Amino acid sequence: MISLKNINKYYKQGEQEVHILHDITLDIQQGEFVGIMGQSGSGKSTLINIIGFLDREYKGDYVFKEDNIVHYTNKKFTYLRNKNVGFVFQNFKLINNLSVAENVALPLMYAGVKKKEVTQRVSEVLEKVGLGGYEKSIPSQLSGGQQQRVSIARAIVGNPTFLIADEPTGALDSQTSAEIMALFKQLNTLNHTTIIIVTHDPNVGKQMDRLLTILDGRLISDTEGE
Ligand SMILES: Nc1ncnc2c1ncn2[C@@H]1O[C@H](COP(=O)(O)OP(=O)(O)O)[C@@H](O)[C@H]1O
Ligand SMILES: [Mg+2]
Repeated sequence: MISLKNINKYYKQGEQEVHILHDITLDIQQGEFVGIMGQSGSGKSTLINIIGFLDREYKGDYVFKEDNIVHYTNKKFTYLRNKNVGFVFQNFKLINNLSVAENVALPLMYAGVKKKEVTQRVSEVLEKVGLGGYEKSIPSQLSGGQQQRVSIARAIVGNPTFLIADEPTGALDSQTSAEIMALFKQLNTLNHTTIIIVTHDPNVGKQMDRLLTILDGRLISDTEGE
């Protein structure tokens, strides 16, 4: 489904071009549960920004569902992102003056889904992440684990083809982190959602079916999980 071929990424720092990702070649099939590990600064976020259609300034080819997206117009590229990817971040990125339901509804509102359908769909996904009945709550009044569940609900509400989570358990204690990982695994198993999780935590990494390791912008290993 996701096929990267010789991806090279450069950042300009002043006059200099710094080579950040080196010849990344990688395939991810539909339904996979993949972890990406590596030291801070090794290029993990840079890589998933490319995979998640946030960044298109790179050299190499990205074939998504048999289509080389390198030649897409910006409009088509944005549509591709909105239709296919859900994002989860370390710090949840919820909007605190909106209710839980309003936060989760945002992607559907942007997509122009009708209000009645939005309400129903939001309740369904809140149920799915274990927050049935929390529609009217305010994110800041919830625990970290609950806030991450809200952000996962927001990420899946549009039925994306794949989920990308950048250090989703980085701000959580180990017990809560295990619960969030169990939720990701459940979404992967029951809904066959493709999930890509960046993590620093070896305990998280070893729960993945497949683990990629990045060092200094190079893919140095690609192994099956335990
Ligand atoms: N917008 C940017 N401009 C310049 N350099 C950047 C930018 N973003 C990241 N970098 C550099 O790219 C390298 C990889 O960063 P990143 O992908 O965030 O690593 P990781 O997520 O593994 O910690 C780092 O050296 C970082 O300083
Ligand atoms: Mg990062």
